[in-house]
Amino acid sequence: MTDLASLHRTAATDETARAALDATGLELRLVASEDPADAAPWSQAVARGFLDGELTEVQLGAWFERGGQRRRIGVYDHAAPEPERPVATFASWVAELSVPGGRGIPSVAISTVTVAPTHRRRGILRSMMEGELRRAADVGVPVAILTVSESTIYGRFGFAAAAMSGYLQVDVPRAHWIGPRPDGRVDFISRERFRELAPGIHDRARIGMPGEIEMPEGHWDRFAGTRPDAEHPERLRAVRYADASGLDRGVALYSYRENHADFARSKVRVERLVAETPDAYAALWRFLLELDLVGELEAGELSIDEPVLWMIADRRAAKLSVGDHQWVRILDVPAALTARRYAAAGTVALEVVDPLGFAEGRWILRVDESGTARVEPWEGAASDGVPLVRLGVAELSAAYLGSVSLTTLVAAGRVEASDALAAARLFLWPETARLSFWY
Ligand SMILES: CC(C)(COP(=O)(O)OP(=O)(O)OC[C@H]1O[C@@H](n2cnc3c(N)ncnc32)[C@H](O)[C@@H]1OP(=O)(O)O)[C@@H](O)C(=O)NCCC(=O)NCCS
Repeated sequence: MTDLASLHRTAATDETARAALDATGLELRLVASEDPADAAPWSQAVARGFLDGELTEVQLGAWFERGGQRRRIGVYDHAAPEPERPVATFASWVAELSVPGGRGIPSVAISTVTVAPTHRRRGILRSMMEGELRRAADVGVPVAILTVSESTIYGRFGFAAAAMSGYLQVDVPRAHWIGPRPDGRVDFISRERFRELAPGIHDRARIGMPGEIEMPEGHWDRFAGTRPDAEHPERLRAVRYADASGLDRGVALYSYRENHADFARSKVRVERLVAETPDAYAALWRFLLELDLVGELEAGELSIDEPVLWMIADRRAAKLSVGDHQWVRILDVPAALTARRYAAAGTVALEVVDPLGFAEGRWILRVDESGTARVEPWEGAASDGVPLVRLGVAELSAAYLGSVSLTTLVAAGRVEASDALAAARLFLWPETARLSFWY
C-alpha cells in the first residue's frame, strides 16, 4: 500500500491530458507540494473554486502542513495576470476503502477538484479526470472514490453513489431512550484528548464498515478544532466512553446552539461520533439524546440504517433524510470484485460497458460457499443457468459495496439481467455501506 501510495503520488502527469491542454495554451503539471511558493497559489485557487475568501497566512500554513501526502496537479494559464495561480486544481491520494467482509482495497481518493469560473466548460475537468484515472490505473490502483459538491458531475466518468448518508433530526424530549444502558462510563474530555483517541477508534471500527476510508491527513485536527486556523473551537464539547474494564471504546464531539426564545429547546449538533463497540455506540447516543435543555439534535454523515433509530421509543421523533455520499468508480474489475466478500454463493456473467475502457469486458464472477470470489474473463457463451447481467461501470460501481440492489437498478432501467434476483442476491451485503465524513 505504501509503495502504491508513493508510486501514485510521484507518477508523471498523463501525456494525453497534457497534450489536450497544451493545444489550448494551458500547462498541466504536478505541484511541488513541499515548496510553499508553489503550494500557496494552488491552495488559493482551491479556496476560490469552493467560494471561500483569500486564505490568510495562518490558513495557508495549515493547508501546507497537511497536504504533503497528496498528489496535487494544477493547470496553468501563462497568459493570465496571475500565472502562478492555477486555473484548475485536482488532488488525490491512495486510501484504503473498506469493502464487504471486513476487508480493504487500495483506492485513489480524489478531492479539491476545481476549475476557475473564467475557464469553465471547456473540457479542463475532463482532461484532468480522464488523465488522472489513467495514471491511477497504470500504477495499479483498482478503484477511484470521491465525495461530491454536485451529484451531476461524475456519473459521466463512471462514478456512482455506492454509500448513501443520512442526516438525522431528532425531537429530543419526544424520543425517549429505550436502548441499552451499558455499564461503562461516559466522561468529558478535552478536544486534545479527543484528537488523540479518535484515530485509533476509527481505524479499528472502519474496516468492518463498507464505504469508510482511512481518515485523510488533517481531518482529525479539523474536526477537533486543534489546528491553528480553527474557527470557534471553544464551541466544541468532547466526551468518551470507557468500557467496564476502563478501555476507551468511543468518542463524540458536539456543539450547542442556544434557543433564546425557549432555552429548554436549544439545539445540539453531533459533530462526530466514533464507536468501536455496540456498547460505546449506545452509551454515546444515549448521552446525546438525554442532554438537558436540548429540544433538537442533528447529526449528519450517518448510515441510513443507524441502530439508534431502534433505540428510541418514538420513531416519529426522528427524521432521516438521505443523500448520496461515497462515490465509487471501479478501474480493475477482477481486483475489485475479488477484494470483497459475498453473502451468498453463486455465479453470474457480467458484461460491463466502460466508455473509458478500464472496466470494459465480459467477466464470470464465481463465489464459493465461503463467500470468496474468482473472476475470469468470459469468452464464448455463458453456461446454461448462469444469470447474465449487462451493465455500465457506474452501475457495477454502485452495487460494489453491497448496499445498492441490482434489482433496483434493473427496475430503474439502468441494468439488464436475465435473473435480477439471483444477481442481486450475490452482490447484496447485510451491513449497510456508509461514510462518516467528507473528503
Ligand atoms: C465542476 C467543475 C470542476 C467542472 O469543470 P469544467 O472544466 O467546467 O468541466 P468540463 O468542461 O471538463 O466538463 C466536462 C463535462 O461535465 C459537464 N459538467 C461540468 N460541470 C458540471 C456540473 N457542475 N454539473 C453538471 N455537469 C457538469 C460538462 O457539461 C461536460 O459535459 P459533456 O462531457 O457532456 O460535454 C467546475 O465547474 C468547478 O470548479 N465547480 C466549482 C467547484 C466544484 O464544485 N468542484 C467539484 C468538487 S466535487
